[in-house]
Parts: sequence; structure tokens; C-alpha cells
Amino acid sequence: MAEKTLRDAFHETLKDVYYAEKQSVRALKKAAKAAEAPELKQAFATHAEESANHVERLVQVFELLGKPARAKTCEAMQGITAEMEEDLEEFGGSEAADHVLVGCAQAVEHYEIARYGLLKSWAGKLGMAEAARLLGETLEEEKRTDALLSKLADALPFSDAEPAGEAADEAATPAPRAKAKSRA
Ligand SMILES: [Fe+2]
Ligand SMILES: [Fe+2]
Repeated sequence: MAEKTLRDAFHETLKDVYYAEKQSVRALKKAAKAAEAPELKQAFATHAEESANHVERLVQVFELLGKPARAKTCEAMQGITAEMEEDLEEFGGSEAADHVLVGCAQAVEHYEIARYGLLKSWAGKLGMAEAARLLGETLEEEKRTDALLSKLADALPFSDAEPAGEAADEAATPAPRAKAKSRA
């Protein structure tokens, strides 16, 4: 078997991201439907459209590489979207629902940022300037979306700002926010 090269690693990662990006389009559409706050709904819907374009860009990168566009199951993205499904079931309809949705969506964006950053860097190393440009465009849109979600999350309302129950017992001085409950 021929020794694996960086070009092989680039190709394998591209297949993984191709799968992940298609999954993210579905997740974003679901999030747009589930979101309560209108600005959040809009942000998810807009990024779902952008993401469909990201899928197209990936097809172009496959072409530049001279390979057919094929997806390879990305278990990381499967895990992230499965968690989103769970969270929607657990928190859907509650005042925490939008907060939880933003959390899930940002996990998707951070994964994408990590992968596109890597692919862009490898494309540069491999002398694929056009591929690096396309991947860089997507990377910027992922980063912009992540920043927008942070901003929107800060503006989301929540009613348990005052310490209550256990948090009140623990708090000798008033806490500005109730402690976030960690995933068991
Ligand atoms: Fe994307
Ligand atoms: Fe994204």
C-alpha cells in the first residue's frame, strides 16, 4: 500500500466535512423551526441558506482535487446533532429552550471552524490557492455566525437570575446569575 500523504489526509477530511456540513443544514433548519425568539429564528434560517452554499463550495473543492464529491460519516457531527435532538426533547417549550438551542448550534459552528481552519491551512500547503480561498470564505461565515449567536444569546431573557433553592443556600452574597446546570 502506498504511503499516505497530506493530500490523502486533506481528501479524507474533506469527505468528513462534506458529511458534517450536510448534517448542519438539517440541524439549522430544525433549529430555525424550534427557536422562539424571532431574531434567533432568522439567524438560524439565514445560516441554513449559507450552509447550503458551503456544501456547494465543498463540491468545488472536490473538483479542484480531481475527486468525486463523496461523504464519509462524521461521528463528531452526528454526536453534536444527536445531543441537539435530546436537548430539544428535554427543554422544548421551556424558557431555557432558546438558550439550549444556541449552545447546540455553537457546538456545530465550533466544529466547523476547527475543520475549515484545518482544511484551509492544508489547501495552502498543498498549493491549492483556489481551494484555500473557497474554504476561507466558508470559515469566515462560520465565525460570523458564531459571533452573532453569542450576541443573540446575551439578549435572551431568563427568569431565574435571582438565586433560588440550592443556589440561594450556597450564595452567601447575591449571585448575579443562577448556576448553569451541567449535563449529567
Ligand atoms: Fe457551514
Ligand atoms: Fe455553520
